[in-house]
Amino acid sequence: MKSIVILISGRGSNMQAILEADLPIRVSAVVSNNPDAPGLDIARRHGVPVEVVNHRDHDSRDAFDAQLAAGIDRHSPDLVVLAGFMRILTPGFVTHYAGRLINVHPSLLPAFTGLNTHARALAEGVKIHGCTAHFVTPHLDKGPIIAQAAVPVLAGDTEQSLAARVLAQEHVIYPQAIRWFAEGRLRITPDGNVILKNQPPMETALISPQEPQ
Ligand code: GAR
Repeated sequence: MKSIVILISGRGSNMQAILEADLPIRVSAVVSNNPDAPGLDIARRHGVPVEVVNHRDHDSRDAFDAQLAAGIDRHSPDLVVLAGFMRILTPGFVTHYAGRLINVHPSLLPAFTGLNTHARALAEGVKIHGCTAHFVTPHLDKGPIIAQAAVPVLAGDTEQSLAARVLAQEHVIYPQAIRWFAEGRLRITPDGNVILKNQPPMETALISPQEPQ
């Protein structure tokens, strides 16, 4: 069975979705840079070993990332899963985990990289927003895309209501992406796109806004 290590910084709802998705994987550890991350208690309740590598205890990004990598590598994971891990990682760290480091981002990449994605989507007036599960490369929020989920932006949406609609879909696509990885169904092409082996045919569209039916 493939093993994963999950990195979190806060709430840990994506981590929880992964822990509760009955995936064919072993979660070897949950590691946080934040000793007060509420997600650590959720992991403990699920019986998963937790570790803290506090970025405040390190003078430089390189020193923090080296300590983090040492903690991760003790578990020899097949996959490292960023689940709301809010530290920018050094190119050296990312390269060390090339092809086995994934992230979930709260936008339809390549739109809205970085922070405050929901507020920026509302400000732009986009009618469709969403989330992306992707492999991580040294370019922030730019790696090969595994899966995306789109949601409508509704009249009267606030940052909170839109974030909640997107988060519910993160909890769907991220465990699914990990399942595909575990099943060996993901391949990154030389031009940096992800192919899912045995992808079922699909022809649906999300149109937003829509007249009532
Ligand atoms: C999620 O919305 C995730 O997409 C986002 O942080 C939130 C973490 O929530 N990640 C990023 O913005 C990374 N660039 P969670 O701790 O409840 O999973």
